[in-house]
Amino acid sequence: MEQTLSIIKPDGVANSHIGDIIKQFESSGLKIVAMKMIHLSKKEARGFYSVHKARPFFDSLTDFMSSGPAIAIVLEGEDAIARNRELMGATDPKDAAGGTIRSNFATDKEKNAVHGSDASETAVLEIAYFFSKLEIVG
Ligand code: RTP
Ligand code: MG
Repeated sequence: MEQTLSIIKPDGVANSHIGDIIKQFESSGLKIVAMKMIHLSKKEARGFYSVHKARPFFDSLTDFMSSGPAIAIVLEGEDAIARNRELMGATDPKDAAGGTIRSNFATDKEKNAVHGSDASETAVLEIAYFFSKLEIVG
């Protein structure tokens, strides 16, 4: 069993796609073991995406991620990290396979509806960024 962090980004929440996106997680067999609504400050968004701090899109990305409420979710299942990435689709919705969350609901390459951890080390760090052990259902 593996856990991964998903975020329904501010565009997904603002465009009323929370239910649609959760439906795709549940239909795929991934189990929701923790979930909360968050509104990141600019500083918290910078901390979360610090791996991208040297990228030209960092300031715009962290403005967007702190622009409104989002939903942090821990998904659990066999190969949850890779399965969630597959379900999400490519970063740019123009490149995302049909039926993926980003193909269905993303606005553009930045406002792309969801975040997903990309490796087991980052999943552990990202889950701990939002959830204590007590907040994750075993
Ligand atoms: P994420 O981390 O959010 O799950 O997305 P990802 O792995 O598919 O993409 P990544 O390369 O990690 O980029 C993180 C987020 O930064 C925004 N971005 N904007 N304007 C641009 O060229 C650009 N490139 C990336 C997106 O919101 C992307 O999801
Ligand atoms: Mg990433």
